[in-house]
Amino acid sequence: MIGIGLLGLGTVGAGVVEILNKRQEELKALTGKDIEIKKVLVKDINKKREIDLGENIITSDFEEIINHEDISIIVELTGDLEQSYRYIKRALNSGRDVVTANKAVVSKHFEELSSSAAEKNLGFLYEASVGGGIPILKPLQEALTLNNITVVQGILNGTCNYILTKMFYEGLDYGEVLKTAQELGYAEADPTADVEGYDTLRKLRILGTLALQGEIREEDILLEGISKITAFDIEQIKKMKSTVKLIGEAKELDEGFTAVVQPTIIKEDSYFANVNMAFNSVVFSGDNVGELKFYGSGAGKLPTANAVLSDVVDIIMGSYIKRNPLGERKLKNLNTRIKGEY
Ligand code: NAP
Ligand code: HSE
Repeated sequence: MIGIGLLGLGTVGAGVVEILNKRQEELKALTGKDIEIKKVLVKDINKKREIDLGENIITSDFEEIINHEDISIIVELTGDLEQSYRYIKRALNSGRDVVTANKAVVSKHFEELSSSAAEKNLGFLYEASVGGGIPILKPLQEALTLNNITVVQGILNGTCNYILTKMFYEGLDYGEVLKTAQELGYAEADPTADVEGYDTLRKLRILGTLALQGEIREEDILLEGISKITAFDIEQIKKMKSTVKLIGEAKELDEGFTAVVQPTIIKEDSYFANVNMAFNSVVFSGDNVGELKFYGSGAGKLPTANAVLSDVVDIIMGSYIKRNPLGERKLKNLNTRIKGEY
């Protein structure tokens, strides 16, 4: 039996419970183990919930989880930056493997948490933190074994892409569409992180650091979100037979890098122009493998929960790359406020 301590029972946490319940038998056949959620941490113990987990499973006391002797994997899905950092550190220090979808905590503490897990020979996996349901970090790390990757770019935020698509094709108002994105479970608890580009920046920090095998910090990335884009802007862009997307790109150049998140005008017949709604896409190329494109659901309950559970299965089966994923190269920040061509 594998005992899970689930931190968070919101959109993604509920998806994890739903898939686990539905696939219990298949997961047992695959892993040879029963996977059981032993405890679930929430903020508000009195909140009405659609999921019935049985008696004494839900708690608001992390100590009950960390001291539970049958829990060997902590799945962190709270979205809280400060607390989640403490939870993850305590989990690793107590010898538990960790899976998280929380790009804010991975981005802020990437080097420390990755090194801590590697030193202890524990799994620290975060596939769902970038690209929602798209398997991207695992293929990227597999590609890195044999390739040098010098550019990674993508549409990395489902909420922004949904808003821009609806504004572009349906002429809808920004605020109205943001509300729908929240109702659909795409947006962060504070959607400022989405629309001002911080969420994309965090994902680019993770992707860029892995892809270029050298640290790209949050503060190294030039950032502009989508909140200032108006209906007038969209009309002008349409006249240019183009569309607009929030693109994150990290690129290696002459022992250094550039890393930028910004709304970008894209010709309507180009690849990213056809990535719409809450879909995400990531493109990178390796010197041997050439260009690879990843496309799929970038946010939402079941796609994200699926990525989380894929990590859980990888930990149980030991089928993840067991080396510190971070390179040690020191790359110089070559960003300039003068924007280059896209
Ligand atoms: P959510 O719906 O807001 O749910 C958060 C859950 O965590 C709630 O159950 C909440 O408790 C609990 N929680 C929050 N702060 C807590 C704390 N300090 N201690 C204990 N429990 C706490 O969030 P979500 O959309 O599921 O997202 C979870 C994580 O996945 C975030 O890091 C997010 O960035 C990431 N993610 C989300 C998506 C997506 O499409 N939604 C996709 C990829 C990654 P209560 O229920 O009591 O309020
Ligand atoms: N708020 C995020 C988005 C969730 O809209 O892409 C997925 O990371």
